Amino acid sequence: MSFSLKNVISIKDFSKKDINYILKEAEGMEPIARSQKTSQVMTGRILGMMFYEPSTRTRLSFETAMKRMSGGVIGFAETGASSVTKGENLADTARMVAEYADALVIRHNLEGAARYVSDIVNVPVINAGDGAGQHPTQTLLDLYTMRRIFGKIDGLKVALIGDLKYGRTVHSLSYALGMFGVKMSFVSPPELRMPPEILHDLKQNKVVAQETNNLQDVLDEVDILYVTRIQKERFPDPEEYSRIKGAYQIDASLIKGKDLIVMHPLPRVDEVSPDLDDTPYGKYFEQAFYGVPVRMALLNSLLSSF
Ligand code: NCD
Repeated sequence: MSFSLKNVISIKDFSKKDINYILKEAEGMEPIARSQKTSQVMTGRILGMMFYEPSTRTRLSFETAMKRMSGGVIGFAETGASSVTKGENLADTARMVAEYADALVIRHNLEGAARYVSDIVNVPVINAGDGAGQHPTQTLLDLYTMRRIFGKIDGLKVALIGDLKYGRTVHSLSYALGMFGVKMSFVSPPELRMPPEILHDLKQNKVVAQETNNLQDVLDEVDILYVTRIQKERFPDPEEYSRIKGAYQIDASLIKGKDLIVMHPLPRVDEVSPDLDDTPYGKYFEQAFYGVPVRMALLNSLLSSF
């Protein structure tokens, strides 16, 4: 088995075989990610980071992944310290970073930015989130978390909750869960439903998802509540955000006695109560850690065949 992708732009570019390959490789990376073993596989390699939007977990776990394998990292975590403030465009910036690095990781506010960059540089490009588009590496770590906790993905029942309109994590995740035959429920306020084109694509692939705005409809049925933040920064109208924020709040009293876990890509605002953090329900910090072995596996697979 090997990995065939040159770039990681959309989860739709992955086959189920590609996904399973990364998940399997990530298992072997866990002891290195936990600092129980060392690795030199990325010696002399450099990863270029271009972050036009804020990030904590995605950026730091990519950096950790590279450094745990003895590689180096360059780039910017915000545009303020780069020549972007002098008016340098995305294409020129990407071309330059690609001259210095062996692969690029890019997060941008515009949908399609990562694909655009992958068309103009000669090194592998990884999409770390493009506007309300896709976030494929988050999906890989979400799937890894599910497999790690349940021992399987096929046949699980998952509710995706919150901002399904602007949330790029759930856009990518819904395609992937569809490939694994997961029974999905989409729980959102009517204004934040899953975009029609994604519903259409899922239907074409014979994936059925139940839609509701009532969280109570799913609580007794699912194995996983995958909760998301309402994406304030994507709302064209701040008043609409004010009306919708706080739509769902999950706390211990709501799910007490239910046989499920709570996942969240983080950051959270108020949709998951801290009273779940130290309970067997709250899996989001463990989930965030799995970003390291999964991104190690991905970098290793991309760079060893390049
Ligand atoms: C998410 C993102 O940036 O899309 N965060 C992440 O990468 N873990 C989710 C969010 O910002 O709500």
